[in-house]
Amino acid sequence: MISSNAPGNTQFVLFGAGGDLSWRLVVPALFNLYLDGHLPEKFRLVAVDRSDNDHLAEHYLKGIAENSRRGKPPADAWQIFSGMLHYLKIDATEAASFKALGDVLDAQEAQWGGKADRVFYLATPPSLFEPIARGLGAAGLAQDREHVRLVVEKPLGNDLDSFHQINDALCKFFDERQLFRIDHFLGKETVQNILAMRFANPIFEPIWNRRYVDHVTITAAETLGVEKRGGYYEHAGALRDMVQNHLFQLLCLVAMEPPVAYDADDIRDKKVDVLRALRPIPREEVSICASRGQYAAGWIQGVKRQAYRDEPDVDQRSNTETYAALKLYVDNWRWQDVPFYLRTGKRMAADVSEISIRFRDVPHHSFPASAGLNAQPTRLVIQINPEQGLVLKFMAKEPGASLRLRPVDMRFSYKEAFQVDVPAAYETLLLDVMVGDATLFMRADQVEVAWKLLMPVLDVWAENPAPDFPNYTAGSWGPESSDLLVAHDGNSWLTPTL
Ligand code: BG6
Repeated sequence: MISSNAPGNTQFVLFGAGGDLSWRLVVPALFNLYLDGHLPEKFRLVAVDRSDNDHLAEHYLKGIAENSRRGKPPADAWQIFSGMLHYLKIDATEAASFKALGDVLDAQEAQWGGKADRVFYLATPPSLFEPIARGLGAAGLAQDREHVRLVVEKPLGNDLDSFHQINDALCKFFDERQLFRIDHFLGKETVQNILAMRFANPIFEPIWNRRYVDHVTITAAETLGVEKRGGYYEHAGALRDMVQNHLFQLLCLVAMEPPVAYDADDIRDKKVDVLRALRPIPREEVSICASRGQYAAGWIQGVKRQAYRDEPDVDQRSNTETYAALKLYVDNWRWQDVPFYLRTGKRMAADVSEISIRFRDVPHHSFPASAGLNAQPTRLVIQINPEQGLVLKFMAKEPGASLRLRPVDMRFSYKEAFQVDVPAAYETLLLDVMVGDATLFMRADQVEVAWKLLMPVLDVWAENPAPDFPNYTAGSWGPESSDLLVAHDGNSWLTPTL
């Protein structure tokens, strides 16, 4: 949520400043915050990297032109913004580097005439989280609980043990309220709107439970493959890359109880309650609760795509899943026995992220079969990407003398309703960090429970290489085992609302 508080004077220290994340997402988001007047008057971007970077400003300019929702920056605005950029070459594994960083930050604040907030953003590989946290801590740069924040990106570990290791290292030097763990899905407007829709309107709450909901489907499908990220993805796979974080966060927002107040801890308490209520998946049930897939070559929108195993930096016999589906149950009064189906995959038939709430069928059919009964179950679809909005799918009477029922859609579109350019997720999240609002960030207990739940699936999959990989064609909706996962309950994955 972009908070109504304006940030105070800020020094934003970007570790990994020369990397892809900084270029593609972080700097374009900061620049848009500047254009929208959200940056404080006294703001400095301290770009930290270990290699020489004489042309960083030009590099960022190109990054903004290519990746910002606004495209090429206006020259005058860019000139002012780039004037706030300061490059610092340091090696984050050496203690002396942090002393140098501290000197640079102190000098700036002395010039400003007072203390500023300091945001340390780690756009680095996770292997550097621990040394950087330690370096900041040892140099005395972490201890001001009020003014210092640390932002980390996923993946936070590769499993439960490595999560503990990373998290313990961060918590040794930083207090939980200084830690901002990014899940960029939470910064998406449509994702934030789930809470607004559920809790700012009285009509949804009475039907938002096992009495009226038959099942819930959460889909995050991409036509993209692993691009140049084969090296990372080989050790991650779809379950770690998307389900452990993004899909679980969506599940929490759909299933959580109403918060007492719109307050970071209250909301996060309610979300963690959902994760705690998830029914554990015993090892022997992994094959009926989870499905995995890996894409073979295929055609997407007229373009031939190679198989995952032929992508750069990918093992020819890779056992990494590029598709994952899960069947979960939330064991509480509201959701007992309502299946939540989650699926995500690369190189799928379309780019679409959405949540579909499928309501129960009518208890009794009053209309004759000739009216075309049950052609479409009632569904509420929360569209996250590429459409942003809500669709209610229901049956209506066709105009005319004969009694015929037909499926129809009622739509709400963000673009049409608000006629504004929606801020990118990173803009929302970075501003929230600067004002110190942690509502949209993951607390350690959420990440921990999510890992715990997935460990049996990860273990069973690692111990038993998939005999049928590759098992879905690029451009399809995933492997057959995923259809069987839902068919087992008499359900099917309904086609996303494109
Ligand atoms: C990232 C994953 O967290 O989310 C990527 O690492 C994935 O693999 C991306 O492509 C999807 O995010 P979005 O916002 O493009 O839907």
